[in-house]
Amino acid sequence: MKSRIRKAVFPVGGLGTRFLPATKAMPKEMLTVVDKPLIHYAVEEAAAAGIEEFIFVTGRGKQAIEDHFDFSFELEDNLKAKGRKDMLDAMRAWLPRPGQVAYTRQQEPLGLGHAVWCARHLVGDEPFAVLLADDMVLSDSPCLKQLVDAQAKVGGNVVAVMDVPRDQVSRYGVIAPGKDDGRLAEVTGIVEKPAPEKAPSTLCVIGRYVLMPEVFDHLAAHRKGAGGEVQLTDALAKMIGHGPFHGLRFEGERFDCGDKLGFLQATLAFALAREDLGAGLESYLRGMFEGRRKPKRPGGAR
Ligand code: G1P
Repeated sequence: MKSRIRKAVFPVGGLGTRFLPATKAMPKEMLTVVDKPLIHYAVEEAAAAGIEEFIFVTGRGKQAIEDHFDFSFELEDNLKAKGRKDMLDAMRAWLPRPGQVAYTRQQEPLGLGHAVWCARHLVGDEPFAVLLADDMVLSDSPCLKQLVDAQAKVGGNVVAVMDVPRDQVSRYGVIAPGKDDGRLAEVTGIVEKPAPEKAPSTLCVIGRYVLMPEVFDHLAAHRKGAGGEVQLTDALAKMIGHGPFHGLRFEGERFDCGDKLGFLQATLAFALAREDLGAGLESYLRGMFEGRRKPKRPGGAR
């Protein structure tokens, strides 16, 4: 079996109802933080971790994602005609090479576990990554790279974890940590969206995983779990005791972009971290909070 992590699965079939009306005609993964869609950040992060094959599990109405990662003749011609070689080169630099992207559809929204299972033939018999584009991580070293590096040392499954206030753990997969060196914690249990009082810890999984292909055998059972969905977490629980399994407390700040407040926080944090925008935005915000400028409420906005 190949051991290097070459493939990443991006489950992008979700409806994004929390962002209506923005997501009525546009995939939620195309929501833009500063000037890039969420899915673009996830693909960049995967590429920075050495991923060479990008597997999207899509659904109805997700064509904009395919178009985003495709060649655009009109745009290329237009930029050429305008002499904008710089923009053209910048765009070509991030476009996946021919054959590097694959799409498959999850025909019914049966859950994250089912979405990952839909990619089984494209992944084959090798360890692979899963990235949930809703989760953004601002860090020095890309979050998935941290996982891949850790996995190269310990093998098996490695999932990104962070401490969350106990009253919020029911939004996440939560691990029961075993041997723990403060960075890597052995996973001795994992449960999806437990009630706070029943959670085995407050160490929650965020949307970055490096998984062994055996996970597909467990997902194949299509057993429904929390929320009546086929949960990835439940398949992972079945793998405990059959090989190394760790949670990595990654370095960086995570933003839940599936939530409006989290999305706004990500927008500010990513913009403030940008060389071209950080100083200007910071001075605007300072002005706002020092009372020099009252936040405007545009007429009719709610
Ligand atoms: C999914 C996973 C959950 C994980 C979370 C991270 O939940 O099922 O285990 O903690 O992503 O964002 P969802 O947010 O899709 O409900």
